[in-house]
Amino acid sequence: MDLPLGSVIQGSLSKGLEVRLHADVSVEDMRVGKFLVVRGVRSHFFCMLTDVSLGTSSARILSNPPNPNDDFLLAVLAGSSTYGTIELSPMLMLTAEREKQQAFFDPTGAGVRENKLALGNLASFESQTGGDIELLPVKTIPSHFSQVFDAKESDFRKVFGWEDDPYRRNFAIGKPIDMDVAVCLDLDRFVERSNGVFGKSGTGKSFLTRLLLSGIIRKQAAVNLIFDMHSEYGWEAVSEGKQFSTVKGLRQLFPDKMQIYTLDPESTKRRGVRDAQELFLSFDQIEVEDIALVQRELNLSEASIENAIILRNELGSSWINTLLEMTNEDIQMFCEEKRGNKSSIMALQRKLERLNDLKYIRKRCPKNYVTEVLQCLDSGKNVVIEFGSHSDLLSYMLAANVITRRIHGSYVRKAEKFLQSKNPCDRPQPLVITIEEAHRFLDPAIVRSTIFGTIAREMRKYFVTLLIVDQRPSGIDAEVMSQVGTRITALLNDDKDIDAIFTGVSGGQSLRSVLAKLDSKQQALVLGHAVPMPVVVQTRPYDEQFYREIGDIDWQEMPDEQVFAEAESAKMDLGF
Ligand SMILES: Nc1ncnc2c1ncn2[C@@H]1O[C@H](COP(=O)(O)OP(=O)(O)O)[C@@H](O)[C@H]1O
Ligand SMILES: [Mg+2]
Repeated sequence: MDLPLGSVIQGSLSKGLEVRLHADVSVEDMRVGKFLVVRGVRSHFFCMLTDVSLGTSSARILSNPPNPNDDFLLAVLAGSSTYGTIELSPMLMLTAEREKQQAFFDPTGAGVRENKLALGNLASFESQTGGDIELLPVKTIPSHFSQVFDAKESDFRKVFGWEDDPYRRNFAIGKPIDMDVAVCLDLDRFVERSNGVFGKSGTGKSFLTRLLLSGIIRKQAAVNLIFDMHSEYGWEAVSEGKQFSTVKGLRQLFPDKMQIYTLDPESTKRRGVRDAQELFLSFDQIEVEDIALVQRELNLSEASIENAIILRNELGSSWINTLLEMTNEDIQMFCEEKRGNKSSIMALQRKLERLNDLKYIRKRCPKNYVTEVLQCLDSGKNVVIEFGSHSDLLSYMLAANVITRRIHGSYVRKAEKFLQSKNPCDRPQPLVITIEEAHRFLDPAIVRSTIFGTIAREMRKYFVTLLIVDQRPSGIDAEVMSQVGTRITALLNDDKDIDAIFTGVSGGQSLRSVLAKLDSKQQALVLGHAVPMPVVVQTRPYDEQFYREIGDIDWQEMPDEQVFAEAESAKMDLGF
């Protein structure tokens, strides 16, 4: 069963290993992204296959290839004179030597247990089923002719853990490409940093994001605030395919743990969402920073932004309302008294008129809706904010920035209180903020001055992190990109985008080929903080089975009329 696939013939720590396949192993079974184990003398190396090639021992065979019908000659050459080679990137190693040394210096063995190393030699490592071992970063390579094996289920469990591990919040994100075993993310580590889901359009980003959010909610690793640009996370979302079908939103999977707010109540109601809360913003919640973020969308000049700062300083929080009510004479007077520039202020006034068209913005609001959202999050409820017909970038970015600024401010205060008191009760529950079209928020030109840039750069200091969903990672500021802890990337074609994914990743070069060869859907390369080593996964299907495994709904105990209503609405969706 456990036959070696090939022997290591050369390589280096920096460039990876070259492995010559044994005669009976077909190169056609070797796919990039595959997970293999090299059994060295002292260590086992967990590796990813990054390239496949063909080799011959003699140039004469190339200049005079055998007749394809000559089976005998083909068989004679195969394996000895013609062979396949694969390239491996070693990612993790497990060393028996270290255990022995430690046991030697520490006869009680206590230190060994403390170090969470498996006792015994490699043979017992073989029989390990996981849990009690420590995997180390690769610091060396296996010696010549070490044998290479397919990774076994137990190897995956050792490296990636398993979903039901009672000591960890693990979430199965998918399976390796050629095996039936779960690849898990450590959700506690995941929410510690900002993370990204990347891939070109139609590769499964929204589905992946929905999976990740379900996992975080199910395992209560963090509370979520989701800016749902296309209304696909909260309630039903359409799934592409030959037949029209929909998948469930988070509110349907976790009825008691989610609250939907909407900036477009009519659209939300039309889609059949009951009890969504309305959300309005008022002009006096908008700061110059929010306007600067949508500078491009509003077509504002630098001078207009500078004058906005003057207006804000002179007029206070009602600066937009006051500006919109000013006559030409008022502006003239303002400019004579203060340092403002008349034409810039008039341009600003003209362009801010556009905000009047946004239905979710009021001149003044009797109640502060953002405070309500904040209370919701504080009570541990996850919030989806739907944009409905406001799915243009201006509406999306403006609202997301205004709301996030306020919520971040509250988290900073909570975190500082906790830092001072060190009382575990004061510890804020981590908050994950999901944004789409993230490169618009994290563009190098504006990232220094927006709240999203601040959150990405300050890391988990205040218990707030981002989940950025984007199809153009090259548009994201490089410093922010290097802070993105875990990157889950579906297929990308553009070279610049692929480069961006590997910003700040050592050995990223060899993974490029892996990323470029992913399937166009439902496959992703996962790398970073929440996984011990990079891995290619077949994304977990987001379907009925997933709802049952992760969702809160007990389908058996659903009242009959609800089952009936669900069936009825499904029938309507299908046009019956
Ligand atoms: N994990 C998954 N489970 C089921 N279907 C998926 C999954 N990932 C992708 N798909 C299919 O691929 C299509 C595109 O995915 P989507 O997330 O909408 O892409 P993107 O957001 O990247 O444009 C979906 O409509 C669905 O049919
Ligand atoms: Mg999408």
